[in-house]
Parts: sequence; C-alpha cells; structure tokens
Amino acid sequence: MNTPQSLNLHTDPADFAGIDVYAVAGNPINHSKSPLIHAQFAAQAQQKMHYGRLQPELGEFKNVVKNFFAAGGKGMNVTVPFKLDAQELADVLTPRAQLAGAVNTLRIEGGKIFGDNTDGAGLVRDLLAQGIALHGARILLLGAGGAARGVIGPLLEHAPKCLVIANRSSAKADELVGLFAGLAAANQVTLESRAMAQLEDSVITSHAFDLVINATAAGLGDESPISNLAADKIFTPKSFAYEMVYGKPTAFMQQALYRGARVSDGLGMLVEQAADAFLIWRGTELSQSIDPRAVLAELRSA
Ligand code: ATR
Repeated sequence: MNTPQSLNLHTDPADFAGIDVYAVAGNPINHSKSPLIHAQFAAQAQQKMHYGRLQPELGEFKNVVKNFFAAGGKGMNVTVPFKLDAQELADVLTPRAQLAGAVNTLRIEGGKIFGDNTDGAGLVRDLLAQGIALHGARILLLGAGGAARGVIGPLLEHAPKCLVIANRSSAKADELVGLFAGLAAANQVTLESRAMAQLEDSVITSHAFDLVINATAAGLGDESPISNLAADKIFTPKSFAYEMVYGKPTAFMQQALYRGARVSDGLGMLVEQAADAFLIWRGTELSQSIDPRAVLAELRSA
C-alpha cells in the first residue's frame, strides 16, 4: 500500500496476519503519542491488536485510507490536517461528527466507512476527571476553527450557564453561534460570540470565567491568543484555564498561572479521546477494563 508520496510506517495490515490493525494518520505524525496510548489500552484490556502510524502526503489522504481498509485495516484515528478530509470520505457520519464538522475516528463495517468524532467527549471527560464542574459554569472558548467547533456540542450538553466563543475574526465566532443556537437553547445555555479584542472591554466582558479553553492554533507557536489586559478581565484565582495543546507550558497557561488560576494542558484530552476510539473499535463492554487516567499518569511520568 506504499505510494511514493506517503510514508507507511510499518502499518500495512497485510503484514499482520491474524491481528487487527489500526493506525493514526496525520502529517507530520512522528510526534504522535497515539500508538503508545493504544498499546497501553490493548494491554489493559488484553486485546491482540497492532496500532501504527501513517503519514499521507497532502492530497493523498483518501487513497491511503481506502488502501488501508482494502488491505484489512480495522480502524483509524485522524489528526491534523486531515480531519475534514476524513469527514468527506466517510460513508456514514455519527450525529456528533456531523455537528463537529470533522472526523477523528474511522471504522469499517459491512464495507462502509463510518466517521465519528471523540474529541469533544474526550475534552469533557478530562475536565470532569480534573474536578471541573460544567453544569452552570461560565465558559469562554477561544478560537472558532475546527478544534473549537469539535468541542462545542459536548460542552453545551453539560448545560453551562453561558458559553462565549471569542475569535480574532468575530465573523467565524458568529457563524458557530448560529450553528449551535438550537442546541444551546435546548440546554438553556446563553451562547454568545465576541471578537478577541472585546475581551479587553469591561463593559462587554463584565465578568470573569470559571473555565477558559484555548482552542486556537496560537498555542502551537509561542503566542497567546489574548492580551494581558484581556487576561486580567477573564481570569480570577477561581478560574481554570485549559490549553488544548500539550507538551509545554504555553504563553496562555502562563498568563492564567500569573493570575492565580489553575491550568491544564491537553494531554488528558488526547488520552480520553483515544479511549473513546478504542471502545468504538473493540467494544464498549471493555470500558471497565481500561484505565485512561493510569495511562495519562504514565505518559506524564515518562
Ligand atoms: P484548528 O483545526 O486547529 O482549529 P483552524 O480551523 O485553522 O485550525 O483554526 C485556527 C484557529 O486558531 C482560528 O480560530 C484562528 O483564528 P482566526 O479565525 O481569526 O484566524 C486561531 N488562531 C490561529 N493563530 C492565532 C493567534 N496567533 N492568535 C489568535 N488566534 C489564532
């Protein structure tokens, strides 16, 4: 299944007779912790499976997926930059994948490719595991791209008091508010949009937030999406700041720490979204056999 442009990193199902094969596809993919995470779940639940990595060239994703499943692959996780391609490619989408506008988990059944999105559920479970109450909370979501959209549905389902979506270009935040207005109303959540700059304005941003989630791509560089003035308005020592990126204390996390808030990176979300994917593939009855928090603790200590 090797194409000249796409790296097959020992993940050809044809090489693993009698073993179910899964993979994570992204570009770049070398840094991915997903193989390690799934190997630990497989060991915990005594599942005989192989989970490898694939690095399709841009434009090659759909061919790589089709070849992978044609060769007997059972399921695939999808990461940057292919989550929209995965949504287009899936024959059937779960409602939450439809709502998220992106797919991070693929499986094959009866010759059809099913697309799901476990990112939002993963974030919510990580927050709850860290003792963060969502019901009745004031939540600020920074960003209005794919990462932000993927978590709005699961957050709204926990009925916070309000969810404010702030983005550099407020038009994209407005769009998301329109898209999720029905779900917000059904859960009696006040859903609003802001331009990032409006977070500095005490009249418009009249209160701090219980939970601030950074879903912008700014964390990947060394920037924070918010100014220090905005940080003064949105954080108190009672706030919890969640950075979706993991691996380093980002500028956003440092702003929150400086104002006495608690912080978290996104490693727990990564583990929890993987747990959901594992159960989708191997059977939800294994939920008692896996321990995502133990896997997270091991990753943190490594
Ligand atoms: P992803 O799938 O990671 O969400 P995306 O769909 O390209 O990627 O969205 C990137 C998000 O990060 C957007 O909300 C973007 O803001 P704009 O829509 O205004 O471009 C945001 N973003 C990226 N870099 C940023 C920065 N330096 N400061 C603030 N926001 C940033």
